[in-house]
Amino acid sequence: MIYISVKEAARKWGLNERRVRALCEQGRVDGAYKKGKSYVIPNISNKPSDKRSRRNIENQIYSAIKEEKIDFTTYKKNYPNKEGYFGRFGGSYVSKELQNAFNEIYDGYLTICKSSRFIEGLRRIRRDFQGRPTPLYHCERLSTYLGKVQIYLKREDLNHTGSHKLNHCMGEALLAKYLGKTKLIAETGAGSHGVAVATAAAYFGLECEIHMGAVDIKKQAPNVAKMKILGAKVIEVNEGTKTLKEAVDSAFAAYSKEYKTAFYCMGSTVGPHPFPLMVRDFQEIIGKEAREQFIEKTGELPDIVCACTGGGSNSIGIFEAFLDDPVKLVGIEAAGTGKSSDETAASINYGKEGIIHGFNSIVLQDENGNVKDASTIASGLDYPGVGPEHAFLNSIGRVNYVPITDDEAVEAFFLLSKLEGIIPAIESSHALAYAIKCARTMHSGSIVVCLSGRGDKDLDYLIEHYSNLI
Ligand SMILES: Cc1ncc(COP(=O)(O)O)c(C=O)c1O
Repeated sequence: MIYISVKEAARKWGLNERRVRALCEQGRVDGAYKKGKSYVIPNISNKPSDKRSRRNIENQIYSAIKEEKIDFTTYKKNYPNKEGYFGRFGGSYVSKELQNAFNEIYDGYLTICKSSRFIEGLRRIRRDFQGRPTPLYHCERLSTYLGKVQIYLKREDLNHTGSHKLNHCMGEALLAKYLGKTKLIAETGAGSHGVAVATAAAYFGLECEIHMGAVDIKKQAPNVAKMKILGAKVIEVNEGTKTLKEAVDSAFAAYSKEYKTAFYCMGSTVGPHPFPLMVRDFQEIIGKEAREQFIEKTGELPDIVCACTGGGSNSIGIFEAFLDDPVKLVGIEAAGTGKSSDETAASINYGKEGIIHGFNSIVLQDENGNVKDASTIASGLDYPGVGPEHAFLNSIGRVNYVPITDDEAVEAFFLLSKLEGIIPAIESSHALAYAIKCARTMHSGSIVVCLSGRGDKDLDYLIEHYSNLI
């Protein structure tokens, strides 16, 4: 990425330097960041315009992308491109120093991902340590209770450590070993990613440091205990809303001081290039297995595949195998209380284009373009942005993104527990709630839900706040 000075941007955009500096301060210049007393600006950033003309430009670009015919048989080869862009989303907007560190990770990944030693090593870990393949389970009682639609669960909750997060953590940790790193640094929201990173660190004999918001530490106490038992140091983050966004900021800051010896284990398909690409590649095992298992069970493809979408790793993981199929794909966003766009984490539904944590995507923002706090009962979905590939798949209309409220997710949580004997994570319960809603209105068909994790971590919170439903 080439950066230009405020002076150069002022000349390029026909503005004076004071105006450009003010726009940077207001967060209205994509990718600009403070360097010393002034700002540096990516040379690809456009001159910020007023809201109405910006909306027009967005509409033009979106319809241009929609008209672009995308060949999903070769999709993975072309998306992202070498700079990490899915259409206009993605990229890497970080300091030069961090860029060098991320380039090292990218080069290492490109080399290692093709080596038979790496592929075989990961395959063995997945089978013997993680317990893959995870089953595809037909919810017969739930389906009968709801009507005529057949609901299936891809049981990522049965993955070792209780969620899909281990799929990419073992891959990332194997790469860290290959690059000679001695420590893993990561952020976590619900703690599922933190536990998975701590597990990977223990497995490979690496040091481990997990950054977590103080609110989430309280809410997800069982996962915090697990991380500590596994030998990780848990850093409590007390900035801002004390949740996932601030945990990412804190972990990035720690990593930028230690990148020579440490490896950043990104928790989802977010962050600067190459993380959205790498995490997707490690997670696509979910969809590959689910597609094969569904065909084996039923002889056909499902009608709908859905998954909750925070940063988007479990949903990209399951969607990827179905992109070229006549299957409706739905990402479920957490709509929080559903009362207003101020109490939500549904970035695609309520956000607009912007840069967050070093990548361009759809981000919840206030009227001045500042990143807004997300709000949802589900710590793992409590993020004001979304992975760039989701922003892209939404823009071309291949995947729909639907909001589900806290209450709908809680209802689904209890229904699955009582009818099937499976206690889902509150994040996964959002996807399940969508499937339940569809099943109540459809007359036939089948829905595969990615059950991204198990609900043990949520029990204390739900018992305290929803005891009336037990
Ligand atoms: C069980 C579970 N599901 C889903 C998510 C959301 O993450 P992603 O959107 O990356 O799959 C989390 C995040 O912590 C989680 O713990």
